[in-house]
Amino acid sequence: MHQVPAETSERKAFYARIDKQNMTALWTVMNTLITPEPRSQCAAALWRFEDIRAAMLEAGALITAKEAERRVLVLENPGLRGQSKITTSLYAGVQLVMPHEVAPAHRHSQSALRFVIEGEGAFTSVDGERTYMSPGDFVITPSMTWHDHGNDTDAPMFWLDGLDIPLVQFLDASFIERHPDEQQPITKAEGHSAAQFGANLLPVDLRSNGTASPIFNYPYARTREALDRLGRSGDWDQCHGVKLRYTNPVTGDHAMPTMATFIQLLPAKFKSSPYRSTDATVFSVVEGRGRTRVGDEWLDWGPKDIFVAPSWHVLVHEALEGECVLFSFSDRVVQEKLGIWRERRGNA
Ligand SMILES: [Fe+2]
Repeated sequence: MHQVPAETSERKAFYARIDKQNMTALWTVMNTLITPEPRSQCAAALWRFEDIRAAMLEAGALITAKEAERRVLVLENPGLRGQSKITTSLYAGVQLVMPHEVAPAHRHSQSALRFVIEGEGAFTSVDGERTYMSPGDFVITPSMTWHDHGNDTDAPMFWLDGLDIPLVQFLDASFIERHPDEQQPITKAEGHSAAQFGANLLPVDLRSNGTASPIFNYPYARTREALDRLGRSGDWDQCHGVKLRYTNPVTGDHAMPTMATFIQLLPAKFKSSPYRSTDATVFSVVEGRGRTRVGDEWLDWGPKDIFVAPSWHVLVHEALEGECVLFSFSDRVVQEKLGIWRERRGNA
């Protein structure tokens, strides 16, 4: 490793002189800028859903979704407090929409994903189409698409929000607009985008439609069926069990340009081989109980819990009770585009 040059009094005086001119000597900071492997303040952490839920119901009594615009509790990485980040590049929060509430329509440069944790029948509208949501559904609101949420049921609805807020902030490219109406006009029948793009078919004259998937709800019923069939085949990956990525059917690429999203089945009693990759990853447990080693730490999890694994920490998953299903998201899609994504299988 590169040695930091000694600090002589002459050098210190020089550094002080150039400091006034907004300059610094690379050789004094080189070791922190270009590290032999990823080094981050991002830490492994887990949030129990029962704790989140209790705090959220308190928030539900404190403020309406309308006043808050979005009633969300941000999951802050313990190593990155005060920055509204769950990883260096990503944001996560849990959103609550109480019965008969509306979270008003807006659009922004940040892309968002929802992964439904609890409740049945609240809806998200995206660009003129409503989709009703069930636990395990994966819903996207791509950059600059109008979106609002509503809950006409009698039960509170909770979902995980994942956004690329820190990434957009880093690039200084944030814009938001509020819709003049609380709820955007509905111009398409429910299921329109699923019929156009989600049946292994595409409109005949479709030309490239940009970077995000035109499907905005990937229902869990279909996802689970795919996992179930593949799980029964016994053809499991040693590191991942059965792991699939959500895709944009037009391009075959990830569903969104800034966040890669995955669903994974760990068969009963499965213990994965060690695995690491450069994309810090947020996991949301859908089914089963198990534990995950993240670096030197074991995180025990059950249904609805949320945990985060930093970049380049060795992961080992263990399914302890029943089959386990994990949803996850990361910035892998960005790193792949930049040619810097890296993975390593095994203990090395
Ligand atoms: Fe939003």
